[in-house]
Amino acid sequence: MEVLDAIRTRRSIRRYKNTPVDDRTLETVLDAARWAPSWANTQCWRFVVVRDSGVKAKLAETLSGGNPAREAIQNAPLAIAACAKLERSGFYRGEPTTDKGDWFMFDVGIAMENLALAAHSLGLGTVHVGAFDAKKAAEILGVPDGYCVVELTPLGYPDHEAKAPPRKELSEIVFYDRFGG
Ligand SMILES: Cc1cc2nc3c(=O)[nH]c(=O)nc-3n(C[C@H](O)[C@H](O)[C@H](O)COP(=O)(O)O)c2cc1C
Repeated sequence: MEVLDAIRTRRSIRRYKNTPVDDRTLETVLDAARWAPSWANTQCWRFVVVRDSGVKAKLAETLSGGNPAREAIQNAPLAIAACAKLERSGFYRGEPTTDKGDWFMFDVGIAMENLALAAHSLGLGTVHVGAFDAKKAAEILGVPDGYCVVELTPLGYPDHEAKAPPRKELSEIVFYDRFGG
């Protein structure tokens, strides 16, 4: 799939078929995440692949009942937890180099969008899930101190076609020479 097509047609998928995801396909999407850019190539991301249905059920419970992706974490053939090693991205000799502190959210976000686009190009679905209890998820997955869980995504074959929520027009979000201009 062409990159611009993949960007435009990727949708958040919240209902999945039972069809399993084979190891080679899984490795392809994880490899796409691995090739993401990162601060000074620090690659703070780590990925936990969850196939065990008991662990998926526990992770699903870290999302509130109202989160529309909750069932998907439980029912998709697998879930991926994107984690980050803290105080690496945006740091030099142990000190943050910018007013934004730790850039792990940025780096993991890029890696996970790479993963989402690669998955979509192979006919798979994902949804970035940020609204969950990340501390509980870390406990469930045995994530050590110095790392955190950033996002979860289910991964599997979509069982529906999702509609695209509208986007702001370029004229609302792009300025030239001066913000707001
Ligand atoms: C950082 C981030 C966190 C998100 N968290 C959730 C979530 O907790 N639950 C959910 O159902 N969707 C979540 N989404 C998906 C967005 O709702 C979705 O990307 C947006 O509505 C646009 O739809 P599209 O992905 O189909 O283009 C999240 C997306 C991002 C980028």
